Amino acid sequence: MNYKLRCIHCGKIYESNEVKYTCPVCGSRLGTLEVVYNNFSHVEKFDLEHKGMWAFSRFLPVDLNHFEVPLLVGNTPIYEKRRLARELGLSNLYVKDDGRNPTASYKDRASALAIAKAKELGISTIYCASTGNAASSLSGLSAASGVKSVIFVPRSAPDAKITQLLVYGATVIAVDGSYDEAFDLSMEVGEEFGWYCRNSAVNPYLLEGKKTGAMEAALQLNWRIPDVAMVSVGDGTVVSSIYKGFSDLKKAGLISKIPMIIGVQAEGANAVMRTFELGIFDEPRDMEAHSMADSIAVGKPRDVLKACKYVKESGGKFISVSDDEIGRAIVELARKTGVFAEPAGATAYAGLKKIKDELKGKSVILFITGNGLKDINSVKRFVTQVYVVKPNREEAKEALRNAGAI
Ligand SMILES: Cc1ncc(COP(=O)(O)O)c(C=O)c1O
Ligand SMILES: [Zn+2]
Repeated sequence: MNYKLRCIHCGKIYESNEVKYTCPVCGSRLGTLEVVYNNFSHVEKFDLEHKGMWAFSRFLPVDLNHFEVPLLVGNTPIYEKRRLARELGLSNLYVKDDGRNPTASYKDRASALAIAKAKELGISTIYCASTGNAASSLSGLSAASGVKSVIFVPRSAPDAKITQLLVYGATVIAVDGSYDEAFDLSMEVGEEFGWYCRNSAVNPYLLEGKKTGAMEAALQLNWRIPDVAMVSVGDGTVVSSIYKGFSDLKKAGLISKIPMIIGVQAEGANAVMRTFELGIFDEPRDMEAHSMADSIAVGKPRDVLKACKYVKESGGKFISVSDDEIGRAIVELARKTGVFAEPAGATAYAGLKKIKDELKGKSVILFITGNGLKDINSVKRFVTQVYVVKPNREEAKEALRNAGAI
């Protein structure tokens, strides 16, 4: 696909081989790049030879003739939840479960693109800093593609995520600091060794991979686009990608509207929301981040400018929810839909619960971005405990009575 790179801050357009990652004039924080296409081929919209996210290769900056697809990313289920929609006063509710990706998060869509690009450039080591999921997706897809991955995570990342990295054979540097510090450190080290960078926002291609989530949902819904799309927000790339996916489909003439996009943050890490509300998007309101939703515990969001611009363009906004609301949302979402999300995944549902009255009568799609098994510890305090009994019928019945099951 024929494309160029445009700075989100100054608007300057670059050829893809002219710049490495970000606009040299505006710098790596504000000068993140957008991939802009000359036009979308109207001949064949979908690449039916390829499965999952690669069915959208006509909309991606990758030549699949030179890339062997490593794992099946995408093709995740979308569920229509009419009963829950009625309960919430919505006209309909769709739940797209991206925790069903090969390494169990939305991030697989981005890592797949990063690996394709590294292969195109002939670079055999890829690095990233991550709250956990970008890392596990990079290491899983790297293992499947025969490239090396070097990962910088905050030491506090959940056990399951760190173990996942080690199992896949990544080199893991656990930084005794925040995600934001791990990010800056990774950039210094990665640059020094000339590795390929899979860091959110800095690498413009990640968002292109992620936009396939929105495209896939549109296709699954037969191009009937819901009024509102909700997703959780850390660095701001995923929420931007939801906009870009719908926007590229609209440019190609496949859909006629872009949903109102609502980004949901954790209250203790809501720098994107605060920047959006203050209205000066190139003056990010960074903060020290704290949230049990580790994946979105980001204080210095790297894609803040794009996220604010795109969400505004869609007529949407950002909201934030407390850790308590997130914990309760995990349990309620699992019980009402069967989808068990990690905290950052359920954050979208917590956001929906919070503003359901504002959305009365609308159709809503929730993007659930990560699987609940990634982080079981944080949800434990929101569920009842198990009843331990001796292997004895009377004791079992007593426990069942206490549990209210008989
Ligand atoms: C499960 C999950 N949800 C949401 C996000 C937020 O994505 P972004 O940082 O691009 O805003 C992440 C990022 O790590 C994630 O892992
Ligand atoms: Zn610029």
